[in-house]
Amino acid sequence: DDDAVQDPQLKEYKRRASELPSNPTRLRTRLRCYQGTWVLEQWVPGIMAIQRGFAPRQGDVIVASPPKCGTTWLKALTFATMARGVYPPTHAAHPLLRLNPHDCVPFMENLFAAGLGSKMDALPSPRVMATHMHHSVLPASIRANPECKIVYICRDPKDMLVSMWHFARRLRPDVRLLDDMFEPACDGSGLSGPIWNHVLGYWNASKASPETVLFLRYEEMLRDPVGNVKKLAHFVRQPFSPAEEEAGVVTDIVGLCSFEKLKNLEVNMPSSDVREGNFPKDSYFRRGVTRDWANHMTPEMAARLDAVMEEKLRGSGLSF
Ligand code: A3P
Repeated sequence: DDDAVQDPQLKEYKRRASELPSNPTRLRTRLRCYQGTWVLEQWVPGIMAIQRGFAPRQGDVIVASPPKCGTTWLKALTFATMARGVYPPTHAAHPLLRLNPHDCVPFMENLFAAGLGSKMDALPSPRVMATHMHHSVLPASIRANPECKIVYICRDPKDMLVSMWHFARRLRPDVRLLDDMFEPACDGSGLSGPIWNHVLGYWNASKASPETVLFLRYEEMLRDPVGNVKKLAHFVRQPFSPAEEEAGVVTDIVGLCSFEKLKNLEVNMPSSDVREGNFPKDSYFRRGVTRDWANHMTPEMAARLDAVMEEKLRGSGLSF
């Protein structure tokens, strides 16, 4: 943070962020509308810095997602798949056994907002990094770069919302009612909103350029993790060899990254690395199922959000 404070460019970005429209939410988290997308205020300078100065490298892989859609899981799977040459999934010292997936695959917005974008230069190739940015906000150095691959995951927005509500409540006692987050989700001004534009941006990009954007869905990953990890490996140009498949490497990766396995690791326990303002590591692993929304939303709320999504996605070939 000290670096960030001293960086005059970041200071200027912070000033510009403070002038953007903000969401009159009842929550304490302040969102700003940047280029038509609602983002955490503290990440805006990072996004501006990425747009100005991200230096792509051949083989870069970016894990993209709206929040609470399986980012942690996809980070773990992508990392385990791409690092398997050095760390086979059964390796006793596998990084995922001692680090939370977010510490293996950094969020670009976070690093750049802290003035630490150059840390990414130190990552070995091929690099894996993550973002919650909308596709439209990505710099051309990523968006229009065939050497940069994007793996995207999304989820039924109702489950995303319920997951976000639970998550937010871990840090913010002021988030009491799901209603506080429901209205912004429906009108597009919730975190990472409009959510329909988030998914549509990557959906359309995956249709136009399937070799640069892989579009995955949380529900599909749960239904067929092995098939989807094979797809992922092929996409990042590290397909599993017949010998690897024979040896069970794919199922080992799926096992290493499974909800039960990760949730029960010491590093992901509630007590691990509790710093003020940090989400406890266990908050990334809650239930890991589909349709939990039905336990928290009224049928009317569900129908309303469904209707909004249906209208916004009409004609795209995508539905939830
Ligand atoms: P729930 O809150 O519905 O349980 P993100 O990683 O984008 O923050 O998303 C968090 C959601 O993914 C949470 O959903 C969490 O439980 C689930 N999740 C985390 N790790 C998972 C894993 N290994 N397998 C399946 N789901 C996982």
